[in-house]
Order: sequence, then structure tokens, then C-alpha cells
Amino acid sequence: GAEAAGAHAGAGVSAAVAVELVHTFSLLHDDIMDGDATRRGRPTAWKAYGTGPAVLAGDALFALAVETLASAPGSHVPSAVRHLSTALNDLVSGQADDLLFESRPWTGAEAVGPGEYRAMAERKTGALLGCAAALGAVLAGAPAATVTALDRAGRHLGVAFQVIDDLLGIWGDPAVTGKPVHADLRRRKKTFPVLAALDNPAAVRPLAHLLESAEELDETTARRAAAAIEEAGGRSAALAEAHRHIAHVHTCLDSLPTAPHAADDLRALLAFLVRREM
Ligand code: IPE
Ligand code: MG
Ligand code: MG
Repeated sequence: GAEAAGAHAGAGVSAAVAVELVHTFSLLHDDIMDGDATRRGRPTAWKAYGTGPAVLAGDALFALAVETLASAPGSHVPSAVRHLSTALNDLVSGQADDLLFESRPWTGAEAVGPGEYRAMAERKTGALLGCAAALGAVLAGAPAATVTALDRAGRHLGVAFQVIDDLLGIWGDPAVTGKPVHADLRRRKKTFPVLAALDNPAAVRPLAHLLESAEELDETTARRAAAAIEEAGGRSAALAEAHRHIAHVHTCLDSLPTAPHAADDLRALLAFLVRREM
């Protein structure tokens, strides 16, 4: 009845607030790890206030997220807290791989493969998006099949989001993204467009030569690398990869056992994600 619907809406809000707080906390710490100086068009917290205060602000947001979720109404709070913790564990392991990949070579037996990239991106970005999609359902006591379908949809959405984020990091306009351009290239991040370009046998030698030319790439080299990646098909391959994951999101949402219309907001988000790809 109306009362149950009201309680479910309240559960949705607590879940949404908790996930958003964790998201912001992860970005505060991520900008320190990545050494990035701008986010959302403004100086990053560690640049503006120092690393210590930015770490602590992140920790405080995390504590607030747990408090928010733990204080949510209903009897499913313990499962929801477990669900959020699992997502956070995945995020940490994805972030750890993202950092470890920086020191892996571009070519040879130790190079990062596309499968490893997908596993990393699913954890660092997909886990929290999966949690965002599923947590309200967990709190409202939805059937396991609903929770699983929503979580899977969010994870695929996360990989698509990350691949497009990688594209924007090379070809995006900083005035639109609010983030620096070429920072990933300069830091030797193993992003999808670069890995896809290195899959092209004709491009691998000159591109690897460019990427390995210095400890930290200068702007001219980064620009030349971006052109070489596009030439080798890395840009279009990344776009195709993002679209593949978006198709999976649609499949997961179509499989939702209950209230198919409830997935429409998520479908609207997909359109936004595709527009964001520039
Ligand atoms: C951030 O990943 C993911 C998390 C905060 C867990 P990235 O480092 O690739 O994202 P941006 O480009 O800084 O936003
Ligand atoms: Mg980052
Ligand atoms: Mg990062």
C-alpha cells in the first residue's frame, strides 16, 4: 500500500545518499593517487587544502555514508551495509590494479591485456555503479534476482562509463569535462584506447616507442601519442567497447523480473552516457 511505497522511497533515498557519499570520498582519494590538479573545473581538494586534509575529508565522508545507511529504515539494513562494503572492497582492489598497471610495460608478456583492463574497470568503477543501481532494492527487500540484475546492469554501465572516461581523458575538452587532458597518457595509465591501439600490429612499435620515450610524457609527445592512438583505431575500438557494455546493460534491465517501468530512469541515464562521449 501507500505506506509501504513511502518506506521504499525512504529506503531509496538513504541508499542513494550513502552511495553518493562513498563516490565523493573515492574521488577525493583518487585525485591524490592520480596526482590530478583539477576536478569539476576547480582545484582538487588535495591541491587546495593539502593531502592530509583531503584524506581526512574522504574518511569523514565514508563514515557519514556508513552512518546514513546504518540509520536507514526497515529490516534489510544489515544486507545493505554488506552490499556497500563488498562494492567498496571491489573498488579498492580495482584502484590497486589501476595503480599497479602504471608500472607494467606496454608490450611483451607482462603487458596488460584487454581482459585484465575489463576486470579492473568493473571493480574500480562498475562495483559502485552496480551498488548504486541495486542498493535501494536491497534495502526494500526485493527478490535476489532483481538485486542481481540491477547490480549486473550497473557493473556494465560502469565499464562503459570508464571506457568513455578514458576517451574523454585523451580527446575530451577540459572546459567540458572539468578534468585535465592527457593526464592519463602522461602517467602511463593503461586506458582502453591505448591498449586497443597497441593491439594493432602495424602501430605497436612506433606507439610503444612514443609512450616509453620519457619518465613522464611532455605535452608534445602526449599529443603525438593521442594522434597515433586514433590512427591505430584505439578511439573507435574504445567507442565500440562502450557500446557493447551499454547493450549488456539493456539486456540486464530487460531481464528485471519485476516492475519493468522502474528501469526507465536507468535507461535515460544510458542516453546521457552516450551523449557524454563527445
Ligand atoms: C576513478 O577512476 C575511479 C574511482 C574513484 C574509484 P579514474 O581515476 O579513472 O577517474 P577520473 O578520470 O579521475 O575521474
Ligand atoms: Mg583519477
Ligand atoms: Mg584513478
